[in-house]
Amino acid sequence: MTRTYRISVLPGDGIGPEVVTEALRVLRAAQDALRGAEFQVHEFECGGQYYVRTGKEWTEEAEEFTKRQADAVLLGAVGAEDASGQPVRLPDGNLAGYNIVLGLRFGLDLYANVRPVRLFEGVPTPLYGVTHKDIDMVIVRENTEGLYTPTRGIMKRGGVEEIAIDTRVITRHGALRVIRKAFRLSMERNGAPLDGVRRVTCVDKSNLLAGCQLFRRVFDEVAGEYPGVSVDYAYVDAWTQWCLRRPQFYDVVVAPNAFGDIITDLGAAIQGGLGVAPAANIGDGHGVFEPVHGSAPRHAGQGTANPVAAVLATSMMLRWLGDRHGDRSCWDAAETVERAVADVLREGQVRTADLCRGPWAAVQPSSTSAVGRAIAERVSVLVEG
Ligand code: IPM
Ligand code: MN
Repeated sequence: MTRTYRISVLPGDGIGPEVVTEALRVLRAAQDALRGAEFQVHEFECGGQYYVRTGKEWTEEAEEFTKRQADAVLLGAVGAEDASGQPVRLPDGNLAGYNIVLGLRFGLDLYANVRPVRLFEGVPTPLYGVTHKDIDMVIVRENTEGLYTPTRGIMKRGGVEEIAIDTRVITRHGALRVIRKAFRLSMERNGAPLDGVRRVTCVDKSNLLAGCQLFRRVFDEVAGEYPGVSVDYAYVDAWTQWCLRRPQFYDVVVAPNAFGDIITDLGAAIQGGLGVAPAANIGDGHGVFEPVHGSAPRHAGQGTANPVAAVLATSMMLRWLGDRHGDRSCWDAAETVERAVADVLREGQVRTADLCRGPWAAVQPSSTSAVGRAIAERVSVLVEG
């Protein structure tokens, strides 16, 4: 039986719409070639520019559909700049678009932000002597509390901003579920590139912070449920240098929210840059899939943005739909899209400017849509043989 999935597509601002166009091209190619699951795309305008134009970040219809009717959500990026280059903000001081990105994470209880850090063959890494065989980890970032808990504010005295407070909240419940997710993920993988050992690394600052001490105690408790997975600990500051010096050692890494935000940009850098880094915001009932990169206003409208991160986010969406609904055809689609990306990157001739470095410095950069088309065509070739 063919199932139809309703996908809320939120292209957003800047390069968001450009990369999402290509992600949808690839999604359509997978659907047409595999003739399995069907994807009904419901696209909504949203974000900072939309806010400037209408005074709202998105319509009620968009919000309603995204939160209550969609089977999955594909997000581009949000965030706009005004004429003077300043970020557009809401009256409450948050970035225009905040209620979409962070609103969905909190509103849909998407407690795990799963960010694979994999160096594809044919992609330049800044690390010396490191190849695609060395980098294949997943960072699982807590996504509904920590420093992002919306309990913050600025206090004025006599009209002067005197005090700013951000409260970092770590709960047992929040830690438990995201750490369990990390261990389950390790069980589905083949271990670290270095030694094939299933390993979950707890990245925290438990030498100092109470929340991290709780996080690590919960980590140890969960580790007890997974005797087949070895455990590893690192303070977040030290981890940043271990990640650069010995990326092969890491299989799954779990971290509280803000630390996870920071170390996943580091992870993106070693996997070839933000242009190729995807993310899946996952809860028990919903999933929002997006590139790790932002709206990059300076690169918008030029057709130069790398669509690979958005395409890989789409394949994460397909895999998640497959798991959730036991739908083989979604898994096949995910697998095919990933293989198509791997092929195009390995062959090396069709790539955006961000990847024309190192051994690929002489390659003539392709446009966003040329890369999207190459991946989509490869999807059809892989299926039709
Ligand atoms: C990310 C982004 C967001 C975050 C921003 C846009 C609020 O940096 O998804 O990593 O900090 O989580
Ligand atoms: Mn970030």
